[in-house]
Amino acid sequence: MSTQGNQTRPWKVLVTGGTGLVGMGLQRALKEAGGAKEGEEWIFLSSKDADLTKFEETIAVFRKHQPTHVIHLAAMVGGLFMNLRRNLDFWRRNIHINDNVLTAAHEVGVTKVVSCLSTCIFPDKTTYPIDESMIHNGPPHDSNFGYAFAKRMVIVHNKAYFNQYGGCYTSVIPTNVFGPHDNFSFEDGHVLSGLIHKTYLAKRDNTDVVVWGTGTPKRQFIYNLDLGRLFLWALKEYDEVEPIILCGGDECEVSIKAAAEAVAKASDFKGQLVYDTSKSDGQFKKTASSAKLFRYLPDFKFTPFDQALKETCDWFAANFESVRK
Ligand SMILES: NC(=O)c1ccc[n+]([C@@H]2O[C@H](COP(=O)([O-])OP(=O)(O)OC[C@H]3O[C@@H](n4cnc5c(N)ncnc54)[C@H](OP(=O)(O)O)[C@@H]3O)[C@@H](O)[C@H]2O)c1
Repeated sequence: MSTQGNQTRPWKVLVTGGTGLVGMGLQRALKEAGGAKEGEEWIFLSSKDADLTKFEETIAVFRKHQPTHVIHLAAMVGGLFMNLRRNLDFWRRNIHINDNVLTAAHEVGVTKVVSCLSTCIFPDKTTYPIDESMIHNGPPHDSNFGYAFAKRMVIVHNKAYFNQYGGCYTSVIPTNVFGPHDNFSFEDGHVLSGLIHKTYLAKRDNTDVVVWGTGTPKRQFIYNLDLGRLFLWALKEYDEVEPIILCGGDECEVSIKAAAEAVAKASDFKGQLVYDTSKSDGQFKKTASSAKLFRYLPDFKFTPFDQALKETCDWFAANFESVRK
């Protein structure tokens, strides 16, 4: 399925979840690209503008802004341990947010929506690397099935929408995102942000860093600035309804142990890393294929992991009092 979102009226781009980790990466990427182009307007929403779990608030904010394009980032998001505790909340809130946003977009005549999915949606039992054609081949990992199934349904919605109305409502699938403006909570955040926070405290208090799990699972990471740049591309250039995975090549996949050591280096932490093997490891790996992305963008340059990590650790230290933690 391929569509063209070309149109003559000025672009008004509404970004849901525009104040979170991914949204702030997009704001930075837009700024670095020279800001809004002539005939373009960008609006970044937070939950204060509308609670997107409620349709009346969603449609009101869409009617107010009358967007032509939408980047849909808003979601209830959390790390492994928050997912394990709250699968029902992840399922219900995200299914409501996604349905409300896509329905409101149609009602006000949005021509293109790019929704953000996640590699968590992939089947647990599969072969690697996973590509875009394998998403529905088996259930996701049990730890986050609520979040994963809610995200998978966006693909169903987009396909049905194209069949019925012919519009380009599409989606992208980033791997684990990190960067400034992340949620650095130990309980509710993601693995890298938790490690950055723990390492900062261990350095300050002269203690060990306790890494949860064995350190052996592998994850692919993407810097929020790089993801922002790829969202700008997807909004303007990617016209397939089917999703596309957004991640770098082999070098973006690292073990938790290697990530912990890289955080220690970036934070100039000289103490010990100890592994608490009583904590769950989650899915061992979920290697996603970047082949489709590199077919479209063979020359895209990702920020080197160590550089992106250093920028993030420095940002965290500089903003310690005010960061989400
Ligand atoms: N973080 C990752 O590793 C990762 C990986 C793959 C995909 N993703 C996807 O990327 C997208 C953005 O995630 P993120 O990491 O940027 O999360 P985040 O930092 O927690 O930001 C979430 C954003 O969604 C907004 N939001 C949450 N609930 C809302 C509601 N009920 N109504 C309106 N807005 C709401 C938040 O607004 P407030 O700031 O006002 O709370 C915030 O702007 C999500 O779709 C997520 O699934 C994330």
